[in-house]
Amino acid sequence: MSEPKRYTITSALPYANGPLHLGHLAGAYLPGDIYARYCRLKGRDTLYVCGSDEHGVAILIRALKDGVTPRDIVDRYHPLIEESFRKLGMSFDYYGRTSSDVHKNTSQDFFRTIAGKHFFEEKTEEQLFDPEAGIFLADRFVMGTCPICGYEDAYGDQCEKCGSSLSPRDLKNPRSAISNAIPILKETTHWYFPLDKVQKDLEEWIASHPEWRTHVLGQINSWFNAGLRARSITRDLPWGVPVPGDTPQTEGKEVDGKVLYVWFDAPIGYISASKEWAIAKGDPDAWEPYWKDEESRLVHFIGKDNIVFHCLIFPGMLMTHGEFVLPYNVPANEFLNLEGNKFSTSRNYAVWLHDYLERFDPDPLRYTLTSNMPETRDADFSWSDFQARHNNELADILGNFVNRTFTFVHKYYEGKVPPAGPTDALDRELVDLIRATGERVGEAVDAFQFKESQKRFLELARFANKYFNDKEPWKSRKDNPEGCATTLHFCLQTIYALAIYMNPFLPFSSAKVWEMLNLKGKPEGAGWDGITGANLAVGHQLGEAEILFRKIEDEVIQVESENLAKIQAGMAAAKAEKENAEPPLPQISFEDFKKADLRTAVVIAAERIPKAKKLFLLKVDLGAEQRQIVSGLAGSYEPEDLVGKTVVVVANLKPAVIRGVESRGMLLAVEDNGRLIIVTADGDVAPGRPVA
Ligand code: MF3
Ligand code: ZN
Repeated sequence: MSEPKRYTITSALPYANGPLHLGHLAGAYLPGDIYARYCRLKGRDTLYVCGSDEHGVAILIRALKDGVTPRDIVDRYHPLIEESFRKLGMSFDYYGRTSSDVHKNTSQDFFRTIAGKHFFEEKTEEQLFDPEAGIFLADRFVMGTCPICGYEDAYGDQCEKCGSSLSPRDLKNPRSAISNAIPILKETTHWYFPLDKVQKDLEEWIASHPEWRTHVLGQINSWFNAGLRARSITRDLPWGVPVPGDTPQTEGKEVDGKVLYVWFDAPIGYISASKEWAIAKGDPDAWEPYWKDEESRLVHFIGKDNIVFHCLIFPGMLMTHGEFVLPYNVPANEFLNLEGNKFSTSRNYAVWLHDYLERFDPDPLRYTLTSNMPETRDADFSWSDFQARHNNELADILGNFVNRTFTFVHKYYEGKVPPAGPTDALDRELVDLIRATGERVGEAVDAFQFKESQKRFLELARFANKYFNDKEPWKSRKDNPEGCATTLHFCLQTIYALAIYMNPFLPFSSAKVWEMLNLKGKPEGAGWDGITGANLAVGHQLGEAEILFRKIEDEVIQVESENLAKIQAGMAAAKAEKENAEPPLPQISFEDFKKADLRTAVVIAAERIPKAKKLFLLKVDLGAEQRQIVSGLAGSYEPEDLVGKTVVVVANLKPAVIRGVESRGMLLAVEDNGRLIIVTADGDVAPGRPVA
């Protein structure tokens, strides 16, 4: 395939309803950033955009929970997310937000264009409505039992247990997520995007991309096989982009209180962000070629839960609109787990990015997450792996090589690049690898194999570290000074190459090394392809050496793992409790309760029933009469413990024969961990008194 003219790169817009955690980074963000940084270093015309997804029911629910407005929620999280991204070194050209005016206009125009083709379908039907809150229950506003797997806390748009995509009316026993009320049905009108009408075009287009990731194509094909259906793209909600009433399909219709569905407006956010980028740089039309010129390569970085939206719905919208390019690839990642368990934002089982950044540097996290990137299957982040990768790879290989070279050159060559003399096979092998690494890393990045690309970058550092060992400059310094200078010369040339090759993966370390090398400008400006193994001039004065990666101690890691283990234990306990808890009984009236004749009684005799280990035969005094009751207290009490106690009995329980012995009534007792504890009166009461 010939080189495209420009690259348009996006990372999924994160919902502005909470902070970011490591699972997000591994999915949509780090790969996007690596790709964008690499493209820029290659000198490609690149636009990388992202922004906050500020609409949708998730934001509304969060606002209702916190007792604030949706605007308050997004104003709180948008800056927090943006700041964490910046500290992580994410190199977006623009980070927007979908509550902006530009976005509102862009989304409404998009809708207008499609409505201009009379392509939407309009349907009036009954939908779930919360009679207490007075609001239609779209998507996550309704919960209930999944019709597929029976999970009781499924959402109206999706079951998080089995992953099925649902619509609110699929749920069994629906309840409002706002008020818990049982929804009623109420009529409403909405606009639908008929995905079925573009299925053929989508199929053709997807067929031209056999190179996409297998799991992505797998999901797409199962959607095709099931047959695409019309999706409603409007909602009755108080928060979102208002449905424009001035379009050929909405003119004269009731659009008050109706907004665009969040998954209709959010991906358009990529376009809005590009427009805002162009406006900000004073060239308002500059965004257009990135989205409209066939020679632009559009790549969406997302997590696998976003596949249907980016591979079918949004492309279907783009096709129908007609002016835009379709994605060249959508290299979705699978999920990252945390110490063997799923991330859970609601239970705080997560490593939050802003927390992490308060305690550690960004590069080691970037490195570890890329090493473990869930490209073809789910992967796991663990603190011990983080420590091992950091200490054994970043510190021991990359950091050590850079450090020992600088120390040596400062000590014996006044910090100046020594000259290279005649080379031997090993020197030449190193130089060859310096040159080849650019292409090796680049090929993997272009194939969206980021794990592999980072590995290839580290191979150069690994080889160079070994080169230093094998060359033993501390010896050759005395018996072969020319050879020693040659060795250090090539070590420094390698460091120059590493400074650039590491930039997509470890941007902060790249900048540090650049400074240590005392070079002008930034590594980002140096270019990927000009690395020859002879970039540093002989005699060039180096800057101060700095340690790149300080070893992370066991104690530090232990604190982090223990934190997570505690949360995990809490979750397990809560789950066990929930599973063991008996379902609450339905309510009864006082009349119902009065049907039970509860009375005090004094135990006057207790004896074991032969061959029935747990049973006592009790004789109780009810004041007006005496009765015998068979009771299962024998595992918990001795007979003499019971005699004389004032207990509570159900006096009008139908008589029953237990193990051949008649029982007339029942003693109240509490079960606690397998032991029975009788209910007694607190104080002296006469036998036969009613209990109520
Ligand atoms: N906010 C969505 C999520 O976190 C992603 C939106 S991606 C976009 O799953 F394309 F819609 F912007
Ligand atoms: Zn389910």
